[in-house]
Amino acid sequence: MEIHRLTGALGAEVTGVDLADDLTDETVAQIRAAFNEHHVLFFRGQHWTPEQQIAFGQRFGELDTHPFVEGNDAYPEILDVITDPDDVVNFGGGWHTDVTFLPEPDLGSILYAIEVPEHGGDTLFANQHAAYDAMSDGFKGLLDGLRATHSAGPQYQEGGYSTRSKQMRTKNPELAAEHVVHPVIRTHPENGRKALYVNRAFTTGIVGLHPHESTALLRILHEQTTREAFTCRFRWEPGSVAMWDNRSVQHYAMFDYAGKRRHMRRVTIKGDTPV
Ligand code: SIN
Repeated sequence: MEIHRLTGALGAEVTGVDLADDLTDETVAQIRAAFNEHHVLFFRGQHWTPEQQIAFGQRFGELDTHPFVEGNDAYPEILDVITDPDDVVNFGGGWHTDVTFLPEPDLGSILYAIEVPEHGGDTLFANQHAAYDAMSDGFKGLLDGLRATHSAGPQYQEGGYSTRSKQMRTKNPELAAEHVVHPVIRTHPENGRKALYVNRAFTTGIVGLHPHESTALLRILHEQTTREAFTCRFRWEPGSVAMWDNRSVQHYAMFDYAGKRRHMRRVTIKGDTPV
């Protein structure tokens, strides 16, 4: 197995491993170590049945199902991420961390490309440790101890952005208005590093601030979390796999392929309470 870093900020391409194999514990440990170091791993030329993708995901933890989007009929752990040629929005089409509206957001996701447009449809990733580290001590001090509210409402309530997708079967809009609270800065449970933990899709406010203060602070943080220097970008081919750490990474599914179809399969690994 070889590991090649992608950008200065994050991401590595892993070669020399067939993820459909029954991997040894040693290989899984190597992948986990690379995951903790590079935050998002990319593999090419893979061939997975749904069962094989599920089995791979389960080597890293218990799999989750999405509370607001129907999973695959035969395999509920699998989310078919599909954009149709006549779609005007795509799933994940903005900077976000997956499901931060849950008390225990997922640890990570594993996305497998089935069908991709000839051009476009890349996914961008941003390193939230780097975003935190690059802030001044004064600003870090200001954020220390702050907590933010998160909600699925903007995406999954009646008329929410994600409900406009034709193929993603959204559900439970009446439950999407609930809020949870997470620290603005979280500490990664495995590598011990601090990371910024707010995102444009689901973070709705900062606890204890006046609304105009909260809006202004979130504007600064959203800019900081997604500065170009903290990102990498992945060009998909059928058979590509991306595996990202949802505790240290935000991602963005670029929608620049209107009129074309894109089909990915995603599994997510359950996570813990951010602290
Ligand atoms: C997602 O947000 O999980 C979707 C990413 C993608 O389709 O590239």
